[in-house]
Order: sequence, then structure tokens, then C-alpha cells
Amino acid sequence: MALDQAGELARGAELYVTLEPCNHSGRTPPCTQRILASGIRRVVIGVSDPNPRVIGGGADYLRSNGISVDEGVLEEQCRELIRPFIKYITTSLPLIAMKAGLTLDGKISLKRGRRATITGPESHRFVHRLRDHYDALVVGIGTVIADDPLLTTRIPGKRGNDPVRVILDTHLRIDEDARVLHADSAAATWIFCGPDCASAKADRLRSEKVRVFSVACGRDGKLDLDRIVRLLAAENIMSVLVEGGARVHGEFIKRQLVDRVYLFYAPFFGGTGGNSVIECDEPFSSSLRITRSKARRYGSDVLIEGDVCYGNLET
Ligand SMILES: NC(=O)c1ccc[n+]([C@@H]2O[C@H](COP(=O)([O-])OP(=O)(O)OC[C@H]3O[C@@H](n4cnc5c(N)ncnc54)[C@H](OP(=O)(O)O)[C@@H]3O)[C@@H](O)[C@H]2O)c1
Repeated sequence: MALDQAGELARGAELYVTLEPCNHSGRTPPCTQRILASGIRRVVIGVSDPNPRVIGGGADYLRSNGISVDEGVLEEQCRELIRPFIKYITTSLPLIAMKAGLTLDGKISLKRGRRATITGPESHRFVHRLRDHYDALVVGIGTVIADDPLLTTRIPGKRGNDPVRVILDTHLRIDEDARVLHADSAAATWIFCGPDCASAKADRLRSEKVRVFSVACGRDGKLDLDRIVRLLAAENIMSVLVEGGARVHGEFIKRQLVDRVYLFYAPFFGGTGGNSVIECDEPFSSSLRITRSKARRYGSDVLIEGDVCYGNLET
């Protein structure tokens, strides 16, 4: 698109790209051919193509056709920008991030299964900017029932990108009037339910904007999250923001599916009545450690974000 816009101005110019231009036909023809045709003289590359099938192809091809190529410029920063793509292309799975607003004692609600505003407006604004960058959001039916959320991206002055809204609802308990099913949004809502749920309701729910997927349950009777994540990947979803609630976070963490966290801590204690940020039917001890962590303030909240490292905390 940039080369189309530049037209003849590209002749003799330098091209700065995050990712090594591809040298093969995928969804688009080879980028290298387009670069050669445009008359670009020099290409500066952030990250070499992580696709195991094409390593080195693009840069070498450009060099062999007389173009000057520099690689690895601001590599760390570029790698950060394209993390979902790197995870997807190397594992065929999406990057999965967990987001929660919680009290200092780790509660995401103040009364079990009830809606509560925990974090402030500055954090809420940042959450909408986060949504703008993800391909899909995941919530459990408990959250849909408690909060009746829209799950759209709302950024003042900008039409944000709405992620696909994914709801985990084994028995199709969702209210047919739930706001998430009727949101004014370019994106669809996908409901994952178990194999035995009422097909008449599933048929009523299905529309141009709502898809219902029936998936197997694991031995614990819960929807098989590993399978759902693979299904999302098969639908070209490269990044997923898991927004809760407690049980959904618990299962994603128990299965070690979370790569990254965004935890917004509000400066108060929630007490004993609400949901803890991770809950599970069977007790499990999580040895999840946050690495490369950063702390930032949003109003009176503190965001802790970082990558997840699974391992034995005792070692
Ligand atoms: N502060 C925050 O950031 C935040 C964000 C979201 C929600 N919340 C709060 O969290 C509370 C809701 O949490 P919750 O734990 O009750 O509900 P939840 O995590 O939203 O949903 C849990 C339900 O999802 C269904 N589900 C289907 N497959 C599942 C799977 N593989 N793993 C886990 N769940 C699966 C199950 O119901 P079925 O068996 O019927 O399918 C399960 O009971 C509410 O109070 C809400 O306000 C807070």
C-alpha cells in the first residue's frame, strides 16, 4: 500500500520495514518482486522472517538483485511489535494475553458473580486501546450474565478495531437479548458451546454476526480450551485477549495457555465476598512468574504487565 501511494517517488528511495519482505507467494504475491519493480535502492529490516520455511529468503534475494540491505535494526522493538505474528508463524497458535482489573487483595468482583467497577477511567481507556490491537477477546458466560458487556473498542475520536468477541458457554445459557449479541460492530460474536446443548436455541442465535461452534468437553466437563485455541488459530486469529472472569482466567492459567498479563491494581482491598482473579473447581498451585515486567500508573491504578514464565517457583 505504501509503495502504491508513493508511486514514482519510491524510485531510488530507502524502505524501512519491521519484518523481512517475503520472497514467496502466500496471501499476497512476493513482496520482494514489488520492491524490485518500485525501484527502491536500499531496504532496512527490523526482524528477519521468523517463518521456519522462508528464513533469509527475502533479504538474500534483494541483495542478489543489487539492492543494499541492512538487517537487525531496532530488532528488539520490532520483535515486540510483531509478537503475535511470530508466535503464530512458529507455533500455529495465537498469542494469548490475560487482562484483569483487581483490588490489592486480588479480587475482580466485590460480591460473587456481580458486576463491580474496580479500576478507574484512565485504566478503562487503556483497555480500549488494548482491544484495538487484539484479534479476539474471550470471556466466560459468567461475565456475560453478570456484566452484560458490549465488548467493543471505544476510543474517543477514533473508530477502533473491534476484536471478534468469543464467549465460552457450555450450555448456551446466554440471554438472547444480551448486548454482546447485538453490538453495533463490524466484528462478529462467536459462542463456543458443548456438544449437547439445545440446537433450537443455537439456530436462533446464529445470524450474520453470530456464529455458534459446538466443541467437545474434556473429562472435567469443561469446554476443551486447547481445542478452542486451535480453532481460533485456524480462523486466522493471531492474538487473543482473555478478559475473564475468574473461572476463565483460572482455566487458561491452569493449562499454561497465557503468554502475557495486564493486571490493573486499584488502590483498595476488596474483602472476602468477591471473586478472586483466578478460580478453579479443583485446587491447583500456579507457578506462574511474570518476567520482563513493567509497572505504569493509570490515574490511581497501577498496571503490571509482562510475559508469563511457567516453572517451579521452588527452584
Ligand atoms: N474486574 C475484572 O477485570 C472482571 C472482568 C471480567 C469479569 N469480572 C467479574 O467476574 C465475575 C464472573 O466470573 P465467573 O468466574 O463467575 O465467570 P466467568 O469466568 O466469566 O465464566 C465462567 C463460566 O464460563 C463457562 N465456561 C465454559 N467453558 C469454560 C472453561 N473451559 N473454563 C472456564 N469456564 C468455562 C462455565 O459456565 P458453563 O459451564 O455454564 O459453560 C463457567 O462457569 C463477575 O462478577 C464479573 O463481574 C471482573
